[in-house]
Amino acid sequence: ATSDVTATLHADASGPVYDRRIFTQFAEHLGNGIYGGLWVGKNSRIPNTRGFRNDVVAALKQLGVPVVRWPGGCFADEYHWREGIGAKRPVKINTTWGGVTEPNEVGTHEFMDLTEQLGAEPYIAGNVGNGTVREMAEWVEYMTSPAGSLADERAKNGHKTPWKVPYFGVGNELWGCGGNMRAEFAADETRRYATFLKVPAGTRILKIASGANVDDYKWTETMIRDAGDQVDALSLHYYTIPGSWPPRQSATQFDEAGWAETLSEALRMDDLITRHAAIMDKYDPKKRVFLAVDEWGTWFKGDPGTNPGFLRQQNTLRDALVAAIHLNIFAKHADRVKMSAIAQMVNVLQAMVLTDGAKMVKTPTYHVFMMYKPYMDATVLPIELKSPWYNKDKWAMPAVSASAVRDKAGKVHVGLANLDPNRPMTVSVQIDGIAGSAVSGQLLTAPAMNTLNSFEAPDGVVPVAFDGARIIGKTLSLTLPAKSVVMLDLQ
Ligand code: AHR
Repeated sequence: ATSDVTATLHADASGPVYDRRIFTQFAEHLGNGIYGGLWVGKNSRIPNTRGFRNDVVAALKQLGVPVVRWPGGCFADEYHWREGIGAKRPVKINTTWGGVTEPNEVGTHEFMDLTEQLGAEPYIAGNVGNGTVREMAEWVEYMTSPAGSLADERAKNGHKTPWKVPYFGVGNELWGCGGNMRAEFAADETRRYATFLKVPAGTRILKIASGANVDDYKWTETMIRDAGDQVDALSLHYYTIPGSWPPRQSATQFDEAGWAETLSEALRMDDLITRHAAIMDKYDPKKRVFLAVDEWGTWFKGDPGTNPGFLRQQNTLRDALVAAIHLNIFAKHADRVKMSAIAQMVNVLQAMVLTDGAKMVKTPTYHVFMMYKPYMDATVLPIELKSPWYNKDKWAMPAVSASAVRDKAGKVHVGLANLDPNRPMTVSVQIDGIAGSAVSGQLLTAPAMNTLNSFEAPDGVVPVAFDGARIIGKTLSLTLPAKSVVMLDLQ
């Protein structure tokens, strides 16, 4: 019998690298993203290392988070770094997110300590919105310089050795909360700010320009044309939001139409990258400037009873599918997309982990990131797929999404997602260039579309071993359960 899904995979092909920085995480001063979620302070009864909670750090460390983007988001364009160093920390109002107080307890030194605890690199987003060129330049000097009075001040505050700042964002969403700029003005501002971001000889700081919102192709064109020579990357922000802005739909209470609409919105990322990348190709055919999709993920209405400014939402099997769809799409565009950051790491939007007081739970999204971990720095393999449609009302989409990579040890990994919540799919893949016939795997699914992991029942959506795949001759075959993510490891 013929399979529902057929594909060809060239396991010995060459391709772009699936950059580990695609697994970057975004941590903003927003709700309990930092305070409560990561930072509890040194005197907390919650076990911590220099203020950062041990349970959350351990969970994130297991993921191998390569880079953390901080302190925003919108927060970045009203953040003044001097308020977050030294003994005196002014208490401010977080005017963007809930109007709550911002104690400035987590500043540069604390954030750098967090990255060291995680073994991650820092991606700092600077303040263009209500800051100055001088303030931004001095922040970079404070962090990276081996000598001078800013370096002395850093030493006095406890860190003699300069830090490395490999990634720096020249503002955030300059078209919106970062200053409501026109693209032309933002490009000029980007040139000016970027000019003064200097690091010591022999070190590098990659400058990331504030890129487009969703399908604002004019923004991308203006930025790459007018500021492309001054930066190393353009960002792109696109959130998966069923329905129109502002997000009104529940993270957990949805029917099949809500499932289908959300997944089709996630699939839109493919077309968006294709078009933004085509514009970048025009001005940067050698692909020197990379695309950093540094905000993506689901955005629903906040959980009942939570501060709407905290963007706190539960995470279900549907979010797991959204994550897998994105990680597959990024493989297709790995020649241009060298970084992406899910929004956000802890307690905000499509989070990796949720906390409540001393409790912590890993979300379904966390488990997808764990399953895709072997993709880090592997070679992307071309996979051509013919899939039937999954069609619910007006939301029509290919039922199966896939990608494949070959890691440095020569193992091939195939990531598959079945978006159809009702129908298992038989899959048959013709593989070239593979010697062995061993295949093992992991499966992530759950009884319902909205199954979730709660503090009381943390194992609602967790990966299990999958032994339903076979390689016979040159054919890999399996049945992909309905509403599932499967990662196969071939040898
Ligand atoms: O992630 C939440 C917010 O979404 C960020 O602060 C902002 O950059 C975007 O609009």
